[in-house]
Amino acid sequence: MYARTTRLTHREQVGPDCHLLEFDCPEIAGSARPGQFVHVRLTGGFDPLLRRPFSVMNINPAQGSFQVLVRTVGRGTMLLAQSEPGSEFHIIGPLGNGFALPGPPGEVVLVAGGVGVAPLIFLAAALHQPDNYRYVRALFGAAIGGDLCSWLELSLVCDEFTAVTEDGSAGEQGMVTDFLPAQLDRGAGCVYACGPTAMLAEVAEQCRRGSVPCFVSLEQWMGCGVGVCLGCVIPTRAAGAEHYQRVCKDGPIFDAAVIDWEAMRRGCGPG
Ligand SMILES: Cc1cc2nc3c(=O)[nH]c(=O)nc-3n(C[C@H](O)[C@H](O)[C@H](O)COP(=O)(O)OP(=O)(O)OC[C@H]3O[C@@H](n4cnc5c(N)ncnc54)[C@H](O)[C@@H]3O)c2cc1C
Ligand code: FES
Repeated sequence: MYARTTRLTHREQVGPDCHLLEFDCPEIAGSARPGQFVHVRLTGGFDPLLRRPFSVMNINPAQGSFQVLVRTVGRGTMLLAQSEPGSEFHIIGPLGNGFALPGPPGEVVLVAGGVGVAPLIFLAAALHQPDNYRYVRALFGAAIGGDLCSWLELSLVCDEFTAVTEDGSAGEQGMVTDFLPAQLDRGAGCVYACGPTAMLAEVAEQCRRGSVPCFVSLEQWMGCGVGVCLGCVIPTRAAGAEHYQRVCKDGPIFDAAVIDWEAMRRGCGPG
């Protein structure tokens, strides 16, 4: 883990509410693994006080840079979306456990919802490296076509790619999870997913029924980001007993089978 003052080198609007940001930081670019995140301090002052977490979407170790995809939802993300290249940000990272690359043979299915696509782009790129090669099929869903941010980047690192929108304005019409049963019927060694909690709960349930290993990346609200404040805990099931784990330190990647999805739906997690 590094704590560095980094420079924003590139900012590009890639959707109605989405910006792709590139930061110069050789240490993070050289050490981040798929599924890990960075914790970004937004200003030099205390407003906003808390850092904001973002998944690493791409690394370029040769150039010493990494990218994140940011959806504007509030003040912090708005500040990032409006920042000019050359601005400096204090960033801690890479943080979190990252995805375990699949052990058993078999094709990999990715399920992305909205900006949940970011860590899956990094993962798919890793699964197309010769050492880790896996055949990758991706499902990417959003409400409208404009929200399928960075779909091209994902499609370029997958063997099969299906876009799904709720209004049918791009790709297939429906919910992204409507298209998972067909993928599981074809056989899958492992499923990785990132997106809204309701989507993840449905992916987890389908994988449980199909006995397919499933790993999810959770994007809960965070405080410290390093395991101290307990602001990011989620309910899990360990040996049958209810048990809380920290998304920042124990995750953000979890085996979907250990999460108590019913309690998550009831809002027992913070997000
Ligand atoms: C490990 C991790 C990785 C993440 N990766 C990305 C990413 O790659 N791209 C991206 O755009 N976002 C990502 N997020 C979510 C991102 O951190 C939040 O959207 C951001 O912190 C919001 O900051 P804000 O100041 O703009 O919004 P705030 O002013 O803090 O909140 C605005 C509104 O958004 C809601 N909100 C804030 N944070 C979250 C959240 N985590 N989940 C659901 N609702 C929230 C608040 O309740 C409020 O209603 C990630 C979160 C985590 C924990
Ligand atoms: S954000 Fe503080 S413990 Fe996870």
